[in-house]
Amino acid sequence: MAVKNELKALKYQGANWNQPDDEYTQFFYEQNLSQFWRPEDISMQSDLNVWNVLPNEVKLAYARNLLVLTFLDTYQGDIGMPVVSRAIDEEFHQRKAVLNFMAAMENAVHAKSYSNIFMTYMQTGEIDELFKWGENQKNLQNIMEKIVGAYKELDKENYIKKYDTKKYNAKRFNEVAWKAMAASVFLETWLFYSGFYYPLFFYGQGKLMQAGEIINLIIRDESIHGVYVGRLAQELYETFDNNKQEELSQWLHELLDSLYKEQSELVHEVYGEVDLAHDVNIFVRYNANKALMNLGFDPYFPQEEVNPVVLNGLNTETKTMDNFSMKGNGYQKMKSEALKDTDFIFERPKIK
Ligand SMILES: [Fe+2]
Ligand SMILES: [Fe+2]
Repeated sequence: MAVKNELKALKYQGANWNQPDDEYTQFFYEQNLSQFWRPEDISMQSDLNVWNVLPNEVKLAYARNLLVLTFLDTYQGDIGMPVVSRAIDEEFHQRKAVLNFMAAMENAVHAKSYSNIFMTYMQTGEIDELFKWGENQKNLQNIMEKIVGAYKELDKENYIKKYDTKKYNAKRFNEVAWKAMAASVFLETWLFYSGFYYPLFFYGQGKLMQAGEIINLIIRDESIHGVYVGRLAQELYETFDNNKQEELSQWLHELLDSLYKEQSELVHEVYGEVDLAHDVNIFVRYNANKALMNLGFDPYFPQEEVNPVVLNGLNTETKTMDNFSMKGNGYQKMKSEALKDTDFIFERPKIK
């Protein structure tokens, strides 16, 4: 069981990798480590020829999207992944290790990579102005508040469980933990994708390829993050009785509606000038459905056709590889193979 919620007398134990925590965590461990990469592995210079001749409104939309991604990755690394890791019961050291590794990728690799793109394409004054835009963009701030708010609630519960044990309530703890995991999956598998759309749109047309390579490496990471946390969330959800499941399902769909409203407005502001808002919102709905499926729920939005150029950019198989100037997402520190959907079948029960 993932969450036993027993408050035992303190007894420290080591992580024993000889005894698997469960039937899937060591698989995710292998996959995460084999995908490891560094922002500096990808040289950005060759994008400049294309970047320099882009119209200003295109540059602005591109930069704002990467800024949105930066905000999400920053908090996913600073609090999102760590707080979920801390909520996992003490003896699941392998699960904690996998979550901690993911946490390290978010800010130190993903957010840093966006900054590397900014530093290549833009001047310091422009970068500062861009970050200020994000700090003052109402919809982005509201999205952050909803997601990070769920993490903060779990942060408080983690504290109570460990240090204020009289107030500890196992049922409340599990509920708050599940909500934080659900918020995490929404971020990983859904909210990132309005920002990914534009780099993929360019990449699918053979433009701004180095930035596109970075985005593909990040997408490869986020996709396993969303599946792993989704798997943990499903395991926890199965421990709730029917009434609680119903209540949490309603909470999840209300969160989805409120995030979708903010997302649509944000998409309108970022993509309105380049006339892509309608297309991006299709992609947003497509990925919202995928996030729900990672959590074990049915899709919410009707199926629609996503722009094939973006789907072409989204294909995470190796596209480019040049050992001197650029590294494709086929770049390997260790032996690594691209994931297939079938890799994620762990005989999990279907949840309605
Ligand atoms: Fe990330
Ligand atoms: Fe992630």
